[in-house]
Amino acid sequence: MSPVPRFERVQQALRETELDAIALVPGPNLTYVSGARLHRSERLNLLVIPREGSPRVLCPLLEAAAYRHLGVPLHTWRDEEGPHSALQQLVAEAGLARAVWGVEYANAYYGEVLAIQEVAPGARFQPADEVLTRLRVVKDADEIVALRRAAELTGRVVLEAVEAVRPGLTEREVAAMIQVALLKHGSEGMAFSPLVASGPNAADPHALPSNRVLQPGDIVILDAGGVVEGYQGDITRCVALKPVSDEVRQMYAVVSRAAEAGRAAVRPGVAAQDVDRAARQVIEEAGYGDYFIHRTGHGLGLQVHEPPYIAEGNTQKLEPGMVFTVEPGIYIPGVGGVRVEDVVVVTEQGCDVLTNVSRSLFERE
Ligand code: CO
Ligand code: CO
Repeated sequence: MSPVPRFERVQQALRETELDAIALVPGPNLTYVSGARLHRSERLNLLVIPREGSPRVLCPLLEAAAYRHLGVPLHTWRDEEGPHSALQQLVAEAGLARAVWGVEYANAYYGEVLAIQEVAPGARFQPADEVLTRLRVVKDADEIVALRRAAELTGRVVLEAVEAVRPGLTEREVAAMIQVALLKHGSEGMAFSPLVASGPNAADPHALPSNRVLQPGDIVILDAGGVVEGYQGDITRCVALKPVSDEVRQMYAVVSRAAEAGRAAVRPGVAAQDVDRAARQVIEEAGYGDYFIHRTGHGLGLQVHEPPYIAEGNTQKLEPGMVFTVEPGIYIPGVGGVRVEDVVVVTEQGCDVLTNVSRSLFERE
């Protein structure tokens, strides 16, 4: 049986809160619950799930097809009339005029909340992101299949890019090759715009690709993610352009060991922060502690950054089915940086690595 739609699970979760209903806007939460995938736009588009009774959809007529598989009442509106009266009807039929509404604090526009308030002046609004976060953090078997495919596809593409990297190309040219290769291999899009950072630019973990021309002696960080059925990939590998300095080799060896220590620390019952500590300890003991300037990883699913965050201070216990990255790095201003990033899924015994691509320092000339 397909787990989508997941209305029952959401309604069960709502019964443990004081929320009467939750209103989802196009985005990862709505996709998670309904399977529907929509453009985020200025047109008002809501999936309303009451604690009891049938979910309802408010949507522009042109997007109704995305929701038909759900078999729930659709309140459609046309561009020339606007959403007001369709929303009024939805609220009246669902009996939510004076309800406590859960809204997506991090995704909803203020104007969308105002539109509900206009037709339900007695309503109260509360952030409801937590309700969905708790459901989404542990992936089911179908989600793990999609994440594995996204990881495999991304791994193949990153290996292709590794082969293609050479002095004379610009960072943007390499990034463009990665984008084309992801789409050719069947990716639905980009989990994020691929990062290609070379030489001193690699000292910035989130440097955007520039017109810098790759030079002999550069270290080049390649970080990309494909998308399969909405689920995201995220892999980082490094290429060193010869001649490779001892310093780069040393940095890479330390990060590789840190990544391995991080992955080895993953198992059910371990706090997320302990994975961070395991990786960080290797880097600190090698004397590079000040140059590891970000958390060790992030959850991965319908979003490329989502809970659980693998960071100091996160005492959340890992559970089988959680999926996240382990991606320590060293970034030295003026010198460059290295990062090794893999995706793991927590299993009963430990973890499975979804990104089975060589982690050696690739050397090219
Ligand atoms: Co990442
Ligand atoms: Co990444």
